[in-house]
Amino acid sequence: MKAIVRSAKKSDLSSLEDLYTQCMGEFEYTFYKTNFRSYISSHRDLIKVSEEPSGIISGFVLVYISNPQKARIQAMFVSANYRNRGNGTKLLGAIEKEILTNYPKLRYLSIRIPEEYFLFQSFFLNQNFEIIAKINGYVKNNLDFPYSVNKNFFIRNARESDLEGILRIEKACFSTYWQMSKVKFQQIMKNPSEVLFVAFWEGKIVGYNFNAVSQINQSGNYIRIATLPDLQQKRIATSLTAHAFKWFRAHKIDRIVLSTYANSPVHNNMYKKWGFIKNDQEVILARKYY
Ligand SMILES: CC(C)(COP(=O)(O)OP(=O)(O)OC[C@H]1O[C@@H](n2cnc3c(N)ncnc32)[C@H](O)[C@@H]1OP(=O)(O)O)[C@@H](O)C(=O)NCCC(=O)NCCS
Repeated sequence: MKAIVRSAKKSDLSSLEDLYTQCMGEFEYTFYKTNFRSYISSHRDLIKVSEEPSGIISGFVLVYISNPQKARIQAMFVSANYRNRGNGTKLLGAIEKEILTNYPKLRYLSIRIPEEYFLFQSFFLNQNFEIIAKINGYVKNNLDFPYSVNKNFFIRNARESDLEGILRIEKACFSTYWQMSKVKFQQIMKNPSEVLFVAFWEGKIVGYNFNAVSQINQSGNYIRIATLPDLQQKRIATSLTAHAFKWFRAHKIDRIVLSTYANSPVHNNMYKKWGFIKNDQEVILARKYY
């Protein structure tokens, strides 16, 4: 007899918590325990479970929708004893159907696979996912930033009226997969745990930087930096980052994490020069719909 795949129920909570920690090692940054519980109770349709004929929950997939065009598989796991029986394929099929029904404009269903699970990339590649990027994770355990800045650029917190300039940079600097929406930038400006800085030159926005802090694990997340292509290598990113470090220091965090394209010497050298140390790797895979 084969497992059935269905949306999560309230009674699945302890099985899901158990499977999640087996998969991730522990509750972490995006899904610490309380957050995970409330996500499960409010988004049951975005969590599919495989239930064996014995009643055991053998696997799950949990999706997070960051915008109507982008869904992210936050975690997916099938217990070792129940692998190679089609459970993963069924879970993926069920969650895809759910998302496409509710978000017909979906463009990407993605997953970030950490180093310890690289072996399982082939499962997703066989399911029509393709590699979007290889990523290096970096950490810096102090908040020093003694690098010289370019004072010709004026930097301040972003405002609603800056959105057009920010979106111009977004289009010029990032491929469609990475581009953030206007709504996302508006949300960042309203969130006290996040910050968006903009750099100006001759009244025009020429760069931006986006960061977040997590009080739960005392860490800062340096999320985005971008400079208009014509004005790169004039220390705009360095100046924005010096500003970001002041903000991080004010939030009294212990460490800063970031991730960047693994194959770009420019990015990796820049972060190493700023005292970041490479600590992990991951691969982003996505199934595309358009
Ligand atoms: C990465 C990026 C933000 C750098 O911005 P920038 O304003 O040019 O950066 P800076 O002028 O402050 O340069 C920082 C350091 O990187 C070096 N650098 C930047 N671009 C470089 C390039 N194309 N080639 C070689 N070195 C480069 C600079 O020389 C400088 O090093 P130094 O202090 O030893 O001189 C910019 O290239 C960019 O916007 N790229 C597209 C978006 C992106 O990839 N963002 C990061 C991913 S989240």
